[in-house]
Amino acid sequence: MCGIVGVLGDHEVAPILVEALKRLEYRGYDSAGIATVNNGVLDRRRAVGKLVNLSDLLVHEPLAGKSGIGHTRWATHGAPTVNNAHPHRAGAVSVVHNGIIENYRELRAELAERGLTPETDTDTETIAMLTRAYLNEGMTPRDATEATLKHLEGAFALLFLFDGEEDLMIAARKGSPLAIGHGNGEMFVGSDAIALAPLTDRITYLEEGDWAVVTRAGVEIFDAEGRRANREVTPIRQDSVRIDKAGYKHFMAKEIAEQPVVLADALRHYTRSGALNLPDGLDFTGIERITMVACGTAYYACLVAKYWFEQIARLPVEVDVASEFRYREPPIPGGTASLFVSQSGETADTLAALRYCRDKADRVWSLVNVPTSSIAREADLALPILAGVEVSVASTKAFTNQLLLLALMALKAASQRGHLDAAGLAQALDDMRRLPGLMNQVLTNEARIERLGDRLAEAQDVLFLGRGALYPLALEGALKLKELSYIHAEGYASGELKHGPIALIDRNVPVVVFAPHDGLFEKTVSNMQEVMARHGQVILVTDPEGARLAQEGTAATLILPEAPSLLAPILYAVPAQLLAYHTAVAKGTDVDQPRNLAKSVTVE
Ligand code: F6R
Repeated sequence: MCGIVGVLGDHEVAPILVEALKRLEYRGYDSAGIATVNNGVLDRRRAVGKLVNLSDLLVHEPLAGKSGIGHTRWATHGAPTVNNAHPHRAGAVSVVHNGIIENYRELRAELAERGLTPETDTDTETIAMLTRAYLNEGMTPRDATEATLKHLEGAFALLFLFDGEEDLMIAARKGSPLAIGHGNGEMFVGSDAIALAPLTDRITYLEEGDWAVVTRAGVEIFDAEGRRANREVTPIRQDSVRIDKAGYKHFMAKEIAEQPVVLADALRHYTRSGALNLPDGLDFTGIERITMVACGTAYYACLVAKYWFEQIARLPVEVDVASEFRYREPPIPGGTASLFVSQSGETADTLAALRYCRDKADRVWSLVNVPTSSIAREADLALPILAGVEVSVASTKAFTNQLLLLALMALKAASQRGHLDAAGLAQALDDMRRLPGLMNQVLTNEARIERLGDRLAEAQDVLFLGRGALYPLALEGALKLKELSYIHAEGYASGELKHGPIALIDRNVPVVVFAPHDGLFEKTVSNMQEVMARHGQVILVTDPEGARLAQEGTAATLILPEAPSLLAPILYAVPAQLLAYHTAVAKGTDVDQPRNLAKSVTVE
């Protein structure tokens, strides 16, 4: 949610800030802005909408200066207007912010008593106003910022720039990530390593509660108690932050196509000589249940995993949406392992759920794509899913790699609990090694899926059905379609349809049915027949045997290769993603950055 960047450079910073913001645009794209100090004077430019609008503005109204801060916004408080766009300014201070200041109304009321009134609808402006008030009392920028931070409640990553101070930025982190980049006579600050990668290869992550005084000579970091803190300087692995479309039209197309490769990489990493190679800390001894918590697509990955853990390892699993879990105060009985799944590793609700479990669960594990993220760092054990940088806002390769890791974990649990012998495990791992090849075969069907996407683009409502571990995939298929194409879509367990949703069916409603020829196939086909009897347009996604038995009467049948049933949800994710992708392309929506969304949801 919102990306922030800052540069104390030895060149003009406006183009550098815009370039860095481009790499952060996945975090929000409602508006963007930059502020610089030039000859001691603070000035700013802001524009609504995508970054390109800010770039256009800067052509007509350039902004000089070698020190500057920038922001790309995902609106929380206040509509996406120029006035509400960051950087916010009050007198001699300018501020960019990622997060939410929960007590901004109280702060505003206190400022109003001093005769200070806001000019925007944002919570962020309150921070600038408060700092200005302290500056006006005669405090130095550093003391004024420290005093301001003491009053802020909520989650934030902040960057301050001051009138008359060409060699000073102050950064602060509480609840939202922030990294300091070290250059030679230059310093940088950014929401993540991706933003800073072209500028430096050495970064320091601020810890929770840290704030930092940055000058071209270096950085002084203080912890929440104001004590000097030493934080490690780590090298950025350039291959882990490379972002380009590699010739694809969209990042999403590239990331879908990358799945066989990143899946094979993760499989190689977590298996060795035909055996599991998971960390020893991932120990199911004494564990009687698992609580899995996540949001969105990661939540659906957990729902699939519930089928695997319960069926293969006979281990009960509860799956919760993080925003509900964290406030429900669920009891966590002894013998519970808690698992938090998050691509970004920064999702505010998932992180809060993890913190809730920290002193209660026997084990606190996380599955993340960003190994330096808060959810990775705060878990007892973090397993990287090794999907590589995922830029497109809609999650694709992270989902399938999450599923792979969850399947491997279920196999380990099953072995440790005596429900899977060595031969069974070897067979399951053999099956998994076929998965990248099977995925490649699905990808060769893309032209056909593209034509189906053209048809779905005409629909107003689309339903997705599945049974067993394919039911969460129906939910995921519907989520992907609605977030990318803005077409209303719902996923249902096939057997649930007749309990209400079947009333929606008529000849205008496409119904995508995920039905591999497995033990539940006949049941799903019966539900599909109920849809067809009501003139619903069924798009059946199945395997050759399923097609032979059930394609008659469908509007279209997409035939995937036959796959071992454990792997079906991973394989069937690919057509679900491609359907959503091609429908969105046909509708002409912004595939990589759908409206109202952001990649990293660091606010609740
Ligand atoms: C949908 C999507 C989101 C995320 C959700 C959680 O395509 O990407 O639903 O899955 O916001 O994000 P992470 O996994 O970063 O915690």
